[in-house]
This record gives sequence, C-alpha cells and structure tokens, in this order.
Amino acid sequence: MTAETNTLEEAKAVLSALKDKNDDTTDFYNNWAENYDQHVAVLDYNAPRLAATGLSSHFTGDREAALVLDVACGTGLVAKQLKEHGFKHFVGIDGSKGMLDLAKKTDLYQDLKQCMLGKEPLPVQWGLFDVVVIVGALTVNHVPFTVVRELCKAAKPGGYICLGKGNYLDSKKYTIEMELLLKQMEEEELWSCVSIDEMKNWMTSDIAEQGKEDKVSKPGTVYIYRKL
Ligand SMILES: C[S@@+](CC[C@H](N)C(=O)[O-])C[C@H]1O[C@@H](n2cnc3c(N)ncnc32)[C@H](O)[C@@H]1O
Repeated sequence: MTAETNTLEEAKAVLSALKDKNDDTTDFYNNWAENYDQHVAVLDYNAPRLAATGLSSHFTGDREAALVLDVACGTGLVAKQLKEHGFKHFVGIDGSKGMLDLAKKTDLYQDLKQCMLGKEPLPVQWGLFDVVVIVGALTVNHVPFTVVRELCKAAKPGGYICLGKGNYLDSKKYTIEMELLLKQMEEEELWSCVSIDEMKNWMTSDIAEQGKEDKVSKPGTVYIYRKL
C-alpha cells in the first residue's frame, strides 16, 4: 500500500467515525485537528475553494478593506482560499480549540474565538462584517441551522452571507428545514438571495462508497445572500 492510499484509507475511516457520531463533535475535531488538512486533501475536499470562488464572483465591495467572519473556521482553509481572491481581514470562530490552534498558525486571522454555536451566542458585534461565511459545518451534530439568523445579524446591511454545505453526510430533514428557514428570512426581508449553486465536486471521495470505489463525486451547495 502506498503512503497516499494509506492516508486515504485513514481519512475515510475518520469520516466514517464522524458520520456515526450522534452528539457534540468538539472532541472529535480536537483529535482530528493535526491531520485534518492532510486528510481532506486526499479526500479532494473542494468546498473551501468552491465557496470562495462563488462568493468572490458576486462580491462588489472593496475586498482589501472587507472584514470577513469565518464561522466554524477549522484550520483556516476558507480564509486561505479567500485570500487568493484578495480578501485580507479575517475573524475566525470555532468550537474546537485544536482546530483554532492550527488556524492561529496560519497568521491569517486578526482574532480567533472559541464558541460552541447553538449552545452559546455568536460572540461578535452585530452589523460589523462585510462577509460572513460558513463552510462544512451546517450539518447534523455540528452547527444547528437556526444559527443562520445570527450569521445574518453579524453582517452589515449590504453584506454577504455565504453558506457552503455538503449534500451527502446529512439527514435530508436538516437540509429541508434549513432551506425553509432561508426562504422565511427572505420573506421577513432580512436578506435577499444572490445565488444558490449546486456543485458536483464538493468532495470526490466518500465513505458511502467505501470498499467499492475510491473516487466518487459528491455534491454540495453554495448559498449566497445579501443582508437588507
Ligand atoms: C468540516 S470542519 C470545516 C472547517 C472549515 N470551515 C473547512 O471548510 O475546512 C467543521 C468545523 O466545524 C466546527 N464545529 C462543529 N460544530 C460546531 C459548533 N456547534 N460550533 C462551532 N464550531 C463547530 C468543528 O470544530 C470544525 O472545525
């Protein structure tokens, strides 16, 4: 077995264990943190790049001056991608100390805060951010979808809210209920929808096919809203 196959098998095993978890994932991510970047790389986790590209294609403000709130920032993969698109100022939030320690090492964030969303309020000033982004965390046993209301509150009027979500590790119920809330927030005139794009290649290896195929394209969706 090559070193790469070994890492892929290891990464699949970690994802499989994550899927089987039915409670808080903080310890899980604390333990995964050191190997997270390497594992998601062999799993072709394209989500941070896809979300950053989608957001960048719609963002019309001054990106060098823009303040970005990276929610469930993990090790910093989303900020790294947004930096490629010219964004420079980041604040990160995550529930896992292990992930935050690695995000700190990137030197991308002017501030990093530990917070368990859903249990604690989003620890930021309302109306401060030009961009609020969350990728890979709106799913069961992670960030409850009701936190989306707080993400909208954190954005400035005219600010962008970008939600990147895989469509495979999830219960359908979570996605259906989240999408109902997104619509309801439009009806409440809290935000307007900029785009909803389904992407085929969110992650191209997946545990569902473990033992059958190594590379199976799994979809995800990037939802972009603008605060009114
Ligand atoms: C799959 S990682 C995604 C990290 C990063 N956004 C990326 O795309 O690489 C999920 C992240 O969500 C964080 N997380 C899960 N549940 C959370 C919660 N309730 N509050 C805050 N962070 C949470 C985990 O600690 C982890 O860093």
